Parts: sequence; C-alpha cells; structure tokens
Amino acid sequence: MLTLDYHPTGRHFLQIPGPSPVPDRILRAMSLPTIDHRGPEFGALGLKVLADIKKVFQTRHPVVIYPASGTGAWEAALSNVLSPGDAVLMYETGHFASLWHKMATRLGIKPEFLALPGTEHGVPVSWRRGVQPDLIEARLKADAQHQIKAVCVVHNETSTGVTSDIAAVRRAIDAARHPALLLVDSISGLASADYRHDEWGVDVTVSGSQKGLMLPPGMSFNALSPKALEASKTATLPKAFWAWDEIVEMNKGGYWPYTPNTNLLYGLSEACDMLLGQPGGLEAVFGRHRRWGEGVRAGVRAWGLQIQCADAAVYSPVLTGVLMPEGVDADAVRKLIYDRFDCSLGTGLGRVKGRMFRIGHLGDCNDLTLLAALAGCEMGLKLSGVKLAGSAVQAAMDYFAAHPAAQPLTQAA
Ligand SMILES: Cc1ncc(COP(=O)(O)O)c(C=O)c1O
Repeated sequence: MLTLDYHPTGRHFLQIPGPSPVPDRILRAMSLPTIDHRGPEFGALGLKVLADIKKVFQTRHPVVIYPASGTGAWEAALSNVLSPGDAVLMYETGHFASLWHKMATRLGIKPEFLALPGTEHGVPVSWRRGVQPDLIEARLKADAQHQIKAVCVVHNETSTGVTSDIAAVRRAIDAARHPALLLVDSISGLASADYRHDEWGVDVTVSGSQKGLMLPPGMSFNALSPKALEASKTATLPKAFWAWDEIVEMNKGGYWPYTPNTNLLYGLSEACDMLLGQPGGLEAVFGRHRRWGEGVRAGVRAWGLQIQCADAAVYSPVLTGVLMPEGVDADAVRKLIYDRFDCSLGTGLGRVKGRMFRIGHLGDCNDLTLLAALAGCEMGLKLSGVKLAGSAVQAAMDYFAAHPAAQPLTQAA
C-alpha cells in the first residue's frame, strides 16, 4: 500500500482535464473478478463494448481498442496508414499537436507543421485559436502532385482549451479536391464535446479512456473509415502490436489477439451504459459540458483574467485555460491551491509552462464541484497576490442559477 504523510479528509478535487474522476458506478463495475479472455462470457462482453463504442464515436465502422494510453493510439493511427518518408500535414494548436508532430518525425514520416505566426500576451497565437481550415485548403491546393498523404489535427487541444471545427477541416480537404486521409486526435474531446466520426468524414479518430469516458487511464482507441482500412493494406511503416488487421478480424467474435485489459472493458461497458442511456443521449452529455464551460468562463471573466482561448467560436467545453498576469508563476499558484485546498489543476504545458493553469470541467462533475474548484482557485489567487476584479464563484453561481441544465444531471444506477 502506498503511504502518504497524511491523507486529507473529504474528496480530492481532481480538476485536471483528464484523468477525470471515475464515478463510483464505474469503479464498482471494474471490481468484478477478471475472467478468461478466451471464454464465452468474455466474447459477449467484447461484442457489447465494440458495438457500444461505435455509438460514442458516431460511426458504423470498426473501432480498435488498445490496452495502451492515448500516445499508443497516436502511433497506431500513423503506423497503420503511412509509409516511411510520407509527407503529412499537421497543425500546431498546442502541446499535444506538437507531441504528435514529434512522434511523426520519430516514426520516419515527414510532417509539415502549419501554424498562425506571432505571439499575444507572451503566448503563441496558434495556441489560442483553433485549426485554420483555409490554411489547410491553401496548402493542399499547392500540392498538385498529391504528395501529402494525411492531414492530422487535434480536435480538443487539452493544453490550451480550444476545440477545433473538424467538419470545416473536412470541407477544406474536399474543397482542395485532395485525397489525403484525415486523422483526428479526439483524446480529450470524445464523450464530452460533440464528435461525429462518420458525418465529418474522418478516416482515423484517436481517443483515450481517461477523459470524457470517465475511466482510468490505460485504454485507447482508433475509429476507422473504409478508406483508412484500404490504406492500411499497403502502408509499410513497421507495426505488429498496433496492426489493425488481426485485431479487427478477431473482434468479429468479441475477442482480441492478445490479452485485453478485462477490468477496463467492464468499466467501458458501464461508461457506455451511462453515456448512451442518459436521458437525451449524447446530445445531453455535450450540452452539460457546454454549460459547465460557460459557467467557468463567466467566472474567469469576473476575475478579470484572460481565458487562453481567444476565439469564442472554439471555446472548449472540456477545460478552460487561465492566463496569469505577467510576472505571476502559474505553477506556484497551482501548488498553493493543491497544498492548501486539496484541488489539482492542470499545469501549463510546453510553450505556456508557468504562464497558465487549466481547469477541467468534464465527466463526473456538477455545478457544485465546479463552484468549489473555482473557490479553491479564487482563494489561491488571492493568497498569491493576484489582483482580482471580482468573484468567479459569484459569477458562476449566477450563471448556473440562471441557466438550469436542460437534462437531469443524475443517472439511473
Ligand atoms: C489531446 C491529447 N492528445 C494526446 C494525449 C496523450 O495521451 P496519453 O497521455 O493518454 O498517452 C493527451 C493526454 O492528455 C491529450 O490530451
């Protein structure tokens, strides 16, 4: 047993944008005994989760489930459809887009990184706005020889709090009449922000368990299109564990070619029941995240602090990035809030380290959880000497009280 110097009373406030808190109902489901992964009971579980997860991705096509973190599913997406030396177009929305770009280089493909130039308040402009489809369209139009094999973008950029318009990226590719595949990271968007794999013409969607699905880390996904499956037949980047073909084949019976993480699959089954069985369905799930985002942003504005996302059209329903005034170390503020109030906030990553912190508002959360998190932030900011124009707690209370949830927040157990 891991021993800590002390254990604070009450629940820890895990307000990072993933891993998000795991509901008791899912923890209980995962506590069932581990079963034979080649037995009949397992096959039924496998078929259920494989069917349910398609509904969450809004796809009719196969979804591959890996016992790996999201980073593994990034690698799987690239290595199944690309060959060494292939050109790919990526877009710099933040830290996670940058890590995927770095991975592409390490795998031996040739990524080109589009971005808006310049900085604002010491933050790269591109890290405050979504993917610009017109830049993608112009670059693809210039690629008359169709050298670019894939366009890779992050749907919900967890390092900044920006949710890009994926349907618009699809339209840009089509307007350029370019055959590139569209690969999307929705690791932190899926099951919180609206996401439609088929309707938006995505070829591979990458996702993970520890965000909107409300599961522990350790499981990740590739949702496929028929075009992606076709491309995988000729792609030559080395792959074995990640190769879709054997997994998709064995999944037809509800099994995997290796030992899957059985207890996380129990959890996934329960998470899908909760999300899909919610009155109002997935639209209600997206609606409650939008509302939480509105309430938290009303709070940040009341403090007089800058929201990192500078374009209201692409505010994330999953998290809000809060920029600190010049000279304030955001990580010192975070540490104080953690030490004094037992609340974890997301750190500034990569190019915004120390400049901002992130408040997660996703998954198993409610109005009062967010008000308490804002109270912890507000006390911590004041104790850190940050001048605040007003109270975020009051502003968020006013917002939540004036905007009742469209659907009940509770779910049948
Ligand atoms: C948008 C995004 N992409 C990729 C990753 C990497 O996933 P993992 O840490 O599960 O490997 C994360 C993790 O937070 C993420 O938020």
